[in-house]
Amino acid sequence: MTEVLQSDAAGMARAAALLGDGQCVGFPTETVYGLGADACNGAAVARIFEAKGRPRFNPLIVHLSAAGEAERHAVLSHQAERLAGAFWPGPLTLVLPRRTESPVAALVTAGLDTVALRVPAHPVAQALIAAAGRALAAPSANPSGSVSPTTAAHVLDGLGGRIAAVLDGGACPVGVESTVIGFEGQRAVLLRPGGIPTEALETALGAPLEAPTSAQIAAPGMLASHYAPKARLRLAALAARPNEGWLGFGPLPATQDGPALTLSSTGDLIEAAANLFAHLRTLDRLMAGTGTIAVAPIPARGLGVAINDRLSRAAAGRGG
Ligand code: TXA
Ligand code: MG
Repeated sequence: MTEVLQSDAAGMARAAALLGDGQCVGFPTETVYGLGADACNGAAVARIFEAKGRPRFNPLIVHLSAAGEAERHAVLSHQAERLAGAFWPGPLTLVLPRRTESPVAALVTAGLDTVALRVPAHPVAQALIAAAGRALAAPSANPSGSVSPTTAAHVLDGLGGRIAAVLDGGACPVGVESTVIGFEGQRAVLLRPGGIPTEALETALGAPLEAPTSAQIAAPGMLASHYAPKARLRLAALAARPNEGWLGFGPLPATQDGPALTLSSTGDLIEAAANLFAHLRTLDRLMAGTGTIAVAPIPARGLGVAINDRLSRAAAGRGG
């Protein structure tokens, strides 16, 4: 059962407690309802993808309660600071170079070196992030492939029974998603049009906003390129060959030549999703970016579909 919470003190406290417990909670922002989870808890973030039935791990936006928190997670250029100063809190998302010290889970950024940050203006969203005392990763609160919800009833329609709770804050005033801006060197580029008009962004920047030239970030909402390890991947392997690394699913073998990690020793797909990007990076580092990592078969159910999607892209190499 999904709890429907009012946006009063009791409802806010309950929502904050559920988030602290690693659960997913629908909440209003000025753009659309988000499906929030603790951005620093990989298993909580995996539950977002499970609830939405997303067949792939797109990177998620990290929602902060104040602009001052951004520096903890990312490096803000002069241009980024101008935009943040002009439009935060508000319907603007900035894709920025991620700090290695940022505690945000690797699944949030789908293993990328950038992180998307936003400070929502909606008072209920701000109060929730403050009450939870944590940054919230949140995509729109709809099942994969359907339209973004702008009321709590829409959230229940799509995700009722699949998420812990929804916090009812009425209808979202903006009604379209945030504008997503990335950077190519010093140039700000528009990754997704949204709640802020382009002219307003250009006025704040004092420069025209351009379309991305890099194929890496060209398609709005869908990265053409993905995180891929430098080592080769051999998928659906039953065991590692001599000198191969091993990325398992289930208990680790008693003996193993090369470095070995398991996505989940108990075969739990949520734990596996939470570990996926961090384990690939660790194995890549242990193998000094050479050779082959053999990967155990992952069942193609639930989050296994998205895990397999990402593994086959990584096996095909960058841009695959
Ligand atoms: O208004 C909104 O932005 C809503 C509310 C809930 O905040 N959220 C939302 O999230 O629309 P979602 O997951 O539906 O869209 C996030 C967008 C996607 O287009 C995603 O590719 C992009 O942000 N994005 C996130 N992180 C990125 C990154 N590191 N690099 C490039 N694009 C990124
Ligand atoms: Mg969406």
